[in-house]
Amino acid sequence: MGTPILAPSMLAADHTRLAEDIKGVEQAGCSWLHVDIMDGHFVPNLTFGPQTVADLRPKTKLFLDVHLMLDNPQDFVEPFIQAGADQVTVHVEPDYDVSACLSKIKELGAKCGVVFNPGTPVDAVEPYLDAVDIILAMTVQPGFGGQSFQASVLEKTAQLAAWRQEKGLDFRIEVDGGVNAENAPDCRKAGVDTFVAGTAFFKAADRDAFRLNIESLA
Ligand code: DX5
Ligand code: ZN
Repeated sequence: MGTPILAPSMLAADHTRLAEDIKGVEQAGCSWLHVDIMDGHFVPNLTFGPQTVADLRPKTKLFLDVHLMLDNPQDFVEPFIQAGADQVTVHVEPDYDVSACLSKIKELGAKCGVVFNPGTPVDAVEPYLDAVDIILAMTVQPGFGGQSFQASVLEKTAQLAAWRQEKGLDFRIEVDGGVNAENAPDCRKAGVDTFVAGTAFFKAADRDAFRLNIESLA
């Protein structure tokens, strides 16, 4: 199991001052930034585009973990990687060639991963286990920050961890949605090594302590 990493979600930052808020993410000692991209179709909300990533790229060394919530992610992996994404994750629910999309991400030099929603069986990601750097299990229905963590998803991360061990693979297991200091230990026990937190990070009184609390989970 990988060392725990906190990936603050830019969705919960102040969108009129992203660069300043991202400095705050760095000052809290974080190494990753989670960037949510929504298309208003796959999810009922809109967020950022490739230009946002391109403009942030020269301002930060944070590892940019770009989560595409799009009906047609294959059309957007290239613009986001050219903009500076270090990793691109794509949902398995829409109808497109997921394997080809993962290959394209790798060919373009970024890390790749698949994402699945709380209502999607974990079997849906099994075909991609040996093709990915990370698997993201949504712990809320994607689209909005500030929702409640769905603990039942941890059965699926535990299954992913079991497959990872059985097959001798080393993909990371990430959770996203409602993650906070209270549920992070349970996530860790269920095999999670990558913790996305929007609201809990940006509202934390002491962000450095919040990060340390998560990144020191055994
Ligand atoms: C939800 C996004 C999340 C969101 C999490 O669709 O994928 O990354 O920012 O926000 P919190 O931590 O507030 O649930
Ligand atoms: Zn996300």
